[in-house]
Amino acid sequence: MQVRINPSVLAADFVNMEAALQTISTADAVHVDVMDYHFVPNLTFGPQMVGRIHEVSPIPLDVHLMIEHPERWVADFAATGAECVTFHVEATDDPVAVIEALEQAGTHTGISVKPGTPIEPYLDLVERVDQVLIMTVEPGFGGQSFMEEVLGKVTAVSTRAAESGRDVWIQVDGGVGPDTIQAAARAGANTFVAGSSVFDREISPAEAIAELRAKAQAA
Ligand code: DX5
Ligand code: ZN
Repeated sequence: MQVRINPSVLAADFVNMEAALQTISTADAVHVDVMDYHFVPNLTFGPQMVGRIHEVSPIPLDVHLMIEHPERWVADFAATGAECVTFHVEATDDPVAVIEALEQAGTHTGISVKPGTPIEPYLDLVERVDQVLIMTVEPGFGGQSFMEEVLGKVTAVSTRAAESGRDVWIQVDGGVGPDTIQAAARAGANTFVAGSSVFDREISPAEAIAELRAKAQAA
């Protein structure tokens, strides 16, 4: 599958969001981290802000829900116009019901697992969802170090996707940068979230996106 680079605006200036979005127009999607102070010890955006980001963004939205009880809120986030909404399987008793709610809303569906969560119980869902996000840091904050030890899960998802003949966005998120993206790509990832390695560099976001894309393609 084609390499996808999804910059995370968690690392952007929240009060200059529209300007930040213009700097990443060469990316494939903008990754929007939604945090609720419960599932993770941090707080970011609600659906109103996500909807405004969608209105002014030059590229589609990849919404990453780090919230408890996603079944209560997914319809609101789907209604923002997001291309894909990803939720954490640890945050709900019924991941299939959440997937069904997103399908009914006409949104691409994504599931995510934290570093300590095994993927085996969820591998059957690889045949149903559009995106599987393997977290490569503990969710909650940008700027953390990439956890190479979780890449076996990326390969397990990649193998299952290939067996089922489906194109699945296999996403890694956390600590992805020029020094780590190739290991993730070789493990089978095709979709790369990058916050600090796009927005906190000496080079421009557009140059950082191009560099990351080239490295992933060459892996
Ligand atoms: C962390 C978020 C990430 C974060 C990644 O919980 O899910 O999307 O923005 O930031 P970096 O790329 O700086 O690790
Ligand atoms: Zn994220």
